[in-house]
Amino acid sequence: MSQVALVTGASSGVGESLAPLLASRGWRVYGMSRRSVDLPGVFALPADISDAEALGRAIGELKAREGRLDAVLHCAGVGGAGAVESMPTGRARRIMETNFWGSWNLCQSTLPLLRQSPRGRLLLVSSIAGHMGIPFRSVYCASKASVIALSDSLRLELQGSAVQVSCISPGDIATNSIATQYRQPAAELDPLYRARYQRADDAMAANVDHGMSASHVAEEMMRILLKKQLAPHYVIGEPVQKISTVARRLLPARAWEWILGRYYS
Ligand SMILES: NC(=O)c1ccc[n+]([C@@H]2O[C@H](COP(=O)([O-])OP(=O)(O)OC[C@H]3O[C@@H](n4cnc5c(N)ncnc54)[C@H](OP(=O)(O)O)[C@@H]3O)[C@@H](O)[C@H]2O)c1
Repeated sequence: MSQVALVTGASSGVGESLAPLLASRGWRVYGMSRRSVDLPGVFALPADISDAEALGRAIGELKAREGRLDAVLHCAGVGGAGAVESMPTGRARRIMETNFWGSWNLCQSTLPLLRQSPRGRLLLVSSIAGHMGIPFRSVYCASKASVIALSDSLRLELQGSAVQVSCISPGDIATNSIATQYRQPAAELDPLYRARYQRADDAMAANVDHGMSASHVAEEMMRILLKKQLAPHYVIGEPVQKISTVARRLLPARAWEWILGRYYS
């Protein structure tokens, strides 16, 4: 019997590459995003993950059709840029609603089914930005740090069950994410921040433009999914990006801040 997977963020980027990849390897795949998807071998299951009730209904539909769920690959997420001092709080909350509460809702709605699988797998996508505070991306960094913490807590809570949880932190990926996210107009920022904000935002957009392909990240996630034993964390990216997550923990805080400050000055 085919295994059943749910891929969130299936309408764009990594999720859009990963869902048909899994289907091509024999999985029965449900692709979730707010927009409905039309991908080879993938059943569209549209829902807004920040809406717990709508998400619950969608998972109920999957359960009624399949009666099982073996893997959740949670790629849905949103970015955003602005200064802590002036970014509209509604915009900031929206990022938290999607990245943290959306992940929370997804865990709550899928774990009862995943726990019935003899080989349940839950891969939550965070970001290298979740390992550190990047200027003018504070809410995004906080939201992705919260996904790492959620994943760590969940792994411990699930001891004694067959479900394995892992947190994936990619570096820059060349997707539409910059074009579709909220970026506070530089003119709204106090002159104290304006020039540095513009440079940081331009650098971020250029890094994403030149980032890894979504299909590469999808292949890596597929490889991780098929492992017998999942590690708590995987970082996908350039060596320097991988090293940064370790350096952040090992270096004295001021030394790390100096390095990041130089990078973003
Ligand atoms: N791109 C990067 O450089 C980068 C780097 C590190 C980490 N990441 C993370 O990696 C993951 C994939 O990134 P990506 O660049 O492939 O993303 P993307 O191309 O921007 O696509 C985001 C996906 O999330 C879905 N989504 C957003 N809000 C949603 C909601 N409330 N409910 C359901 N679905 C929602 C979108 O679909 P709808 O709009 O149709 O809902 C879309 O399918 C994200 O978690 C992102 O934060 C990205």
